[in-house]
Amino acid sequence: MTHEKPHKIEAAEGKLGVMLVGLGAISTTVIAGLDAIKAGRTKPFGSLTQMGTIRLGKRTEHNNPAIKEFVPLANMEDMEIAAWDIFEDDAYTAAKKAGVLNVTDLEAARPALEKIKPLKAVFDREWVKKLDGTYIKQGNTKRELANQLIEDIENFKKTSGVTRVVMIWCASTEVFTPPEEVHKTIANFEKGLDDSHVKISPSMIYAYAAIKSGVPYANGAPNLAVDTPALQELANEHRVPICGKDFKTGQTLMKTILAPGFRSRMLGVNGWFSTNILGNRDGEVLDDPGSFKSKEESKLSVLDTILQPELNKDLYGDLYHKVRINYYPPRGDAKEGWDNIDIFGWMGYPMQIKIDFLCRDSILAAPLVLDLALFLDFAKRSELRGIQEWLSYYFKSPMVAEGLYPEHNLFIQEMKLKNTLRYLMGEEPITHLGTEYYNM
Ligand SMILES: NC(=O)c1ccc[n+]([C@@H]2O[C@H](COP(=O)([O-])OP(=O)(O)OC[C@H]3O[C@@H](n4cnc5c(N)ncnc54)[C@H](O)[C@@H]3O)[C@@H](O)[C@H]2O)c1
Repeated sequence: MTHEKPHKIEAAEGKLGVMLVGLGAISTTVIAGLDAIKAGRTKPFGSLTQMGTIRLGKRTEHNNPAIKEFVPLANMEDMEIAAWDIFEDDAYTAAKKAGVLNVTDLEAARPALEKIKPLKAVFDREWVKKLDGTYIKQGNTKRELANQLIEDIENFKKTSGVTRVVMIWCASTEVFTPPEEVHKTIANFEKGLDDSHVKISPSMIYAYAAIKSGVPYANGAPNLAVDTPALQELANEHRVPICGKDFKTGQTLMKTILAPGFRSRMLGVNGWFSTNILGNRDGEVLDDPGSFKSKEESKLSVLDTILQPELNKDLYGDLYHKVRINYYPPRGDAKEGWDNIDIFGWMGYPMQIKIDFLCRDSILAAPLVLDLALFLDFAKRSELRGIQEWLSYYFKSPMVAEGLYPEHNLFIQEMKLKNTLRYLMGEEPITHLGTEYYNM
């Protein structure tokens, strides 16, 4: 059954500009991957927009179109990338330093990578203590810096000929800060920009510039960035979709796959110890306690909302949850994440599960950047604005409306995402009730 589409959806005409903040491991892996896919050297593994299908109607109808055919998404071929960084290296040099890709893949993508030269960044060492950038914008106030970013967006549109732009924060994790008065209203925030308020971080200045330019913004790191009442209000006012925080990859992805299973089977959990070693620049930045605190907050919240100890005291009331990240240079981008999970079942008998995930952070994150760019552009063209909770699927610490707790269960997130697509395209949501197949 179909129904009237709730919103008008503009066609994806012309090119889509994707402005990445940070030209490090993830961003360069995105650029190299896109080039490899376009040239037919690989397939878009890990990308729901490119490889996913969506069921429409009853199971008996066998109607499972590809998502990218069902929803009018921009084509990958029509994407143009730009990036900001605090170092002047082009994307090829940055990719080489990041050490994610082997020589064959790096050299094959060299022409595409070399073309991307970063724009000067808005940066403040107070917010990322482990880095000392040299390629940085100068301005008398934070307002002036925001205006320079707005100019960058305008120039990119003119020089590349893109008709629409999205922005994704793929830059280093900033020091943890809870929201304060300056983040509460648009007026406070704008006054803060004029006064260069110390609690306005670079990621917030980028988010402000994006929203003011009508550009959707996704935050791939755990720092607040766009997750403040002031910027949410601004996004609603300017009719701009926003989402975040912190790409859901690696260990947390595993947590949000496993924990819903334990909860579903009423298996108790009394201990979950997670530790990671990684040796890339992200690991170096997270070695600073301030940046780690942002990450820790983001990683810890996941289990509580999935297991809901307040509703399941006997099963999860005594859960000890610990997350550690250690910077260990020999590993580079090839992170290793261990989990020890202490669970218990019938009659309280204890059992243990050990996970040793030899993952690759940027390989897991790159397809998320592609999907977010395409879905955010689609959201904008579908007249959606403000927080896009249906994109929680991509984040460790999803942004939600005030008063709601975030949904962390990956499978509920997937259902929500697909039902949102069905709804926007005028199709019935799928409830899995099954009354159409049985006498109920
Ligand atoms: N890879 C993953 O699986 C994953 C998962 C979740 C979140 N993240 C987050 O994504 C972000 C990027 O990860 P990465 O592995 O690419 O890190 P990276 O250190 O390789 O790259 C980050 C880049 O951002 C640049 N940068 C720092 N501050 C900047 C600023 N103010 N403006 C512009 N550029 C700036 C740095 O110079 C660096 O080149 C990190 O915050 C990381 O915590 C990564």
